[in-house]
Amino acid sequence: ETVEWDPEETGKGAYDHFMLKEIDSQPESLRKTIQGRVDPEAGEVTLDALEEGDLEGVEQVHLVACGTSYHAAMFGSNLMNRRGIPATAHRANEYTDTIPVDGDTLTIAVTQSGETADTLTAIRRAEKKGAQTLAVTNVIGSTVAREVETPVYIRAGPEIGVAATKTFSSQAVTLSLLAEHFADDLPQGTPREDREEFLAALERLPEDIQRLLDTTEAERLSRHHLDKEAFFFIGHELNYSVALEGALKFKEITYEHAEGFPSGGLKHGPLALVTPETTIFTLLGSGPSTQTRSNAEEARARGANIVTVAPESVNVDDVADERLTIPDTHPDLTSLLANIQLQLVSYYTARQLERPIDKPRNLAKSVTVR
Ligand code: G6P
Repeated sequence: ETVEWDPEETGKGAYDHFMLKEIDSQPESLRKTIQGRVDPEAGEVTLDALEEGDLEGVEQVHLVACGTSYHAAMFGSNLMNRRGIPATAHRANEYTDTIPVDGDTLTIAVTQSGETADTLTAIRRAEKKGAQTLAVTNVIGSTVAREVETPVYIRAGPEIGVAATKTFSSQAVTLSLLAEHFADDLPQGTPREDREEFLAALERLPEDIQRLLDTTEAERLSRHHLDKEAFFFIGHELNYSVALEGALKFKEITYEHAEGFPSGGLKHGPLALVTPETTIFTLLGSGPSTQTRSNAEEARARGANIVTVAPESVNVDDVADERLTIPDTHPDLTSLLANIQLQLVSYYTARQLERPIDKPRNLAKSVTVR
């Protein structure tokens, strides 16, 4: 198979940066990710790459990945856990021989490029130990796609900006489809009761993203928080993976000090760093998010500037100094919208600081050395 790159897709067009073009293209790229794969009325998910009987004998799932792809893997493993599947995400470099792997294991490489050396090493190690292998990747014909038993494509189209944006969203959505599939096909799987609603919300996601992209909250916020010394990102469960991703994106392209923490972990150390010079992006879900709220309140009492990222129906008056709003959606998809607000915050902040957004210093799009 060859990779056909549409020149429309590989040019910057009217945009100053590929990163913003790629952020803005997410309604379209996600439509392609789910096309033909979800049927809300029938409550069905179809992934052509997976054939009947392919998953026979699988008792545990390992996801291996680096960088942004690792955060998508965390998101995916959390959704799989919710469906009763024993799944764990590993940073590919730490997927060493100490991790028990055998014929009962399905190891999934999550890699946009399909060429990251650390991820290839990890998946080859699993294969040698008898694991079944699958890849969630963007590039047809990439090394990972050729080496694993089952390549599943995220169909996000070419991504030029070094900082991954649209591919994170497409990876996370593809993994959520895999989670639904495993719920049906693996013996421990427990299909969700609200399958129809979840799939309908997935189909609506491109529109929700478009609504978010049409707002200017993130751009406005980015103009006036630059005097802070540190930027923390906190969240719980699905929002924890997005807190880590938000911080990674922010440090990569703004060069400001940014860290992501699980909300409950703030009080176990990082709180010592919190001063009035700290901004904390606080990711709230549509539920009560008690843990995240109470930890944000603790930090606020120490003077931190709290910026909530929350669905529009959620009241944040008691905790927020400033807020970023996202459309209301299914609770398992809220984090993906929050992530897009954070992509915009990183982009506009880096722009204010006149950073070379598409090619940050010292970083490469795909790291092919170990
Ligand atoms: C590098 C890039 C990151 C990317 C990571 C994994 O660190 O700078 O943007 O997320 O590799 O890349 P992959 O192609 O495996 O998803």
